[in-house]
Parts: sequence; C-alpha cells; structure tokens
Amino acid sequence: MNISVLGLGYVGCVSLGCLAKNGHNVIGVDVNEFKVGLINKGTPTIVEKDIDKIIAEGFEKKRIRATTDYYEAVIKSDISLICVGTPSSANGHLNLGYIYKCAKQIGTALKQKNSHHIVVIRSTVLPGTNKKVGEIIEEQSNKKLNTDFSVVSNPEFMREGSAVSDYFNPPLTVIGSENADALAVTEKMYENTNGPIERVDISIAEIIKYINNSFHALKIVFANEVGNICKQLNIDSHEVMRIFGKDEKLNISNAYFKPGFAYGGSCLPKDLKALTTLAHDFYLETPVLNAIESSNDYHKKNALNIILNTGKDRIGFMGISFKTGTDDLRYSPAVDLVEKLIGKGKDVKIFDDNVNISKLVGVNKSYIEEKLPHISSIMEENFRKLNEFADVIVIPNTLDDSVLAQIDKNKIIIDFVKMASLQNYPNYIGLSW
Ligand SMILES: NC(=O)c1ccc[n+]([C@@H]2O[C@H](COP(=O)([O-])OP(=O)(O)OC[C@H]3O[C@@H](n4cnc5c(N)ncnc54)[C@H](O)[C@@H]3O)[C@@H](O)[C@H]2O)c1
Repeated sequence: MNISVLGLGYVGCVSLGCLAKNGHNVIGVDVNEFKVGLINKGTPTIVEKDIDKIIAEGFEKKRIRATTDYYEAVIKSDISLICVGTPSSANGHLNLGYIYKCAKQIGTALKQKNSHHIVVIRSTVLPGTNKKVGEIIEEQSNKKLNTDFSVVSNPEFMREGSAVSDYFNPPLTVIGSENADALAVTEKMYENTNGPIERVDISIAEIIKYINNSFHALKIVFANEVGNICKQLNIDSHEVMRIFGKDEKLNISNAYFKPGFAYGGSCLPKDLKALTTLAHDFYLETPVLNAIESSNDYHKKNALNIILNTGKDRIGFMGISFKTGTDDLRYSPAVDLVEKLIGKGKDVKIFDDNVNISKLVGVNKSYIEEKLPHISSIMEENFRKLNEFADVIVIPNTLDDSVLAQIDKNKIIIDFVKMASLQNYPNYIGLSW
C-alpha cells in the first residue's frame, strides 16, 4: 500500500518504519524540516530500541522518504495516518489544533485527487473528533465523506521504550469507521501485526485510549500506595503485587468492570476502611485509596437523584441484598437508597426472593433492624403486588428473565445492572449507559 504518515514524532516515526518493514511504501510528513531531513538520511527522529535499524532498512529499500509537502504526500498515497501531537491546553483541555490543521491540509490535497482516500486518526483524540475531521475535509475538498474519502479512528497503544515491539505485538488493534471498506483496508494494513483486531463504534475507538491510560495511571498510583503501606509493615511490596497479579479471576480480569451501582456488602467497605485507617495511623497519605469510598458514595447519590428526578412517589425495589443470590443486607447500597427515599417521603416497597426478614440472624439482622427498623412492613412477598403498586421499578441486582418478563413494560424502570431484556421498554433508564 502507499501510505502517508502525518507527524514524525514517536507515533509517526515508529509507524513509518514498521509499515515499511511490513512491505508498504511510506511517505512521512512533518512541519519540522529537521525531522524530515533525518528521515531522508535513513535516520529516525526519535530514540527507541530497534528503530534505527528499521528506518535504515526501509530507507535503503526505498520504501521510506519524508517531505514537508503534505500535498504531494496525500496525492501520492491511498491512506493518510494522522500522527500529530494532541497536547493539553493551558487550562487542561485537549488541544486538537494540529489535528484540525492536518484535516485542512488533507482536504486541500483531496480537491485534486479522484480516487478514494482513507484518513486514519492514530493520535489520541476525544470523541467527536472523527466527525469533525470528516466535516473539515468535506468543507475543504468539496468531496463527500464515505464516498470520496473516509475517516477511521484507530488509537495507537504503543509505549515509548518498547514502541517497535508494541507496534508488531499490540494488545489489540481498535478501529472504528462509518465505512466498511475503509475498515477492511485498515485491517489489511495491519495484517502482519499480532493481536486481535476489534471493529467498534467510532466513539468507542475514540474514548478507549483515555480509559486505558487513566487505568494505567491508576494502576501505578495504586501500586505505589500499596508499596508505602507495605514498607511501613516491613512487607515486600513487590512480592505483594506479584501475588496480586496472580489472581486472574478477580484482580487481573474483567471482573467488576461493569458500570453500574455502588459496591457494598460485609467485606469491601470494611476492608478498605481497615487499610486506609492503617495507612492513616502511619501518617501516610493514600489519596487514591481514600477516594474510593467517596466515589462509591457519589454513585449512591447519583442513583438517588435519578429516582427522585422521575418525580414519582411509589418506588418498588426488585431486590435489596448487596448482590444477587444472597440475603446479606449488610452495607447493601440498596438499603442506603431505600433509607434515603423514605427520608424524602417516598413510599417504598421491596420484593427480594432471597430475603426473608423473619429468618435473618446475627449481624445481618441487627444491621437491618438498625438501618430500616420497619423493613418488614415494606417487604412485598408477592411480586405482582409490587408491580401494581410501583410507579417506578428499581432493579438493583441481576434477575432471571422469567421474573423480568412479568414487569409491566410501561412502568418507569431504573436498571442498575444492565439487564438486556429490559432495554427496549419505553420508560427504561439505565444507570450509566
Ligand atoms: N508518544 C507515545 O508514546 C504515544 C503513544 C500512543 C499515542 N500517542 C498519541 O499520538 C499522538 C502523537 O504523539 P507523539 O508522541 O508521536 O507526538 P510528537 O510530539 O512526538 O510528534 C508530533 C509531530 O507532529 C508534527 N506536526 C504537527 N503538526 C503537523 C502538521 N500539520 N503536519 C505534519 N506534522 C505535524 C510535529 O512537528 C511533531 O514532529 C498524540 O496524540 C499522542 O497522545 C503517543
């Protein structure tokens, strides 16, 4: 393929070299003449393991060259990869100025081009950028998006220090576009790289890199806070995190990664509190660990507001325990919610197949007696009665489809767990989707 790469920094230089290594003809573009000069001597613009060899080899095979002339580069290629910088502005917003300038340049060149052109956005950009880039190119070129050209969002996941290896072995390749042919060509461009390719909605392709990097940053500060606590206790923090990583069922896995309601139960709140209090006793600051509880509280408040915003008075809860399949009510966030709703004068009824108040024992019993002393009077044994009573039905935990099928479809349904069978109901509200 003939590919132009706009921006010859880390991402652009690595893409240039690696695409050439995979047999493509690549022309790099940069506003910086010095960088262009380096490439035209067969030298990389960055310091990275193996990049010298790859650029030199591509250059010798005449598969790599560079120019400051974006026009020539776009005209002589079928695909343009946008790899320009997207720095933060002074007030922290993302500065997409270079991206839009590139889009204008591509649009100007496309005026004179008759074959279909594919623009691939590799820079890290926020949702909406793909659309905006398409609009700018349309405006500039008088060509039609998805007919004369198409725009693919394809975030780059490489890390400096192992960028070449990451290019050939990405964890996955994510691509999103309105144009299926453009997606097929983009996939073909990556056919010699390892790792699965995921075709996703454009907005998912645009946001995923921010989610990844935020999580990576979280992992680092989490491990550092664990490290500081372990150091105080003379415990080998690296060994702790090695063991932590060995649990691929709950720790390093998709477990818990389901946007929805707050956590609760007898373990998470208590154990988090114990660890943060221990850290506090050592005069350690653990801002990330400390922030977990306030974030959780926020999600309870958010759920409360969503229910209150319906303006309805009769609220039916289809579950009250802290998770599906248990009668454990200790620190159940649904109990907190019911308490708050009653405090706001709402009429609440609860149906939970797993919970029989008269059979609760021990701490579970004393917890609920203290929190909701009149819970027995608001428990509804008959699901149909709850259905009839409620203006709003809240689903705090997962339920069998056979139960969900009995819900009156016209009721306002507020779903905390994303039950697939409810989502087409006319008055359905998902908590965070
Ligand atoms: N560096 C990384 O490890 C990495 C990894 C993944 C994603 N990203 C993202 O990729 C993007 C690029 O990052 P980078 O580190 O390669 O940036 P960089 O600053 O190293 O390089 C950007 C290059 O673009 C050039 N440029 C600016 N405007 C131009 C234009 N109109 N035409 C041609 N060239 C132009 C600049 O001169 C510069 O050489 C950013 O969005 C970044 O967040 C970076």
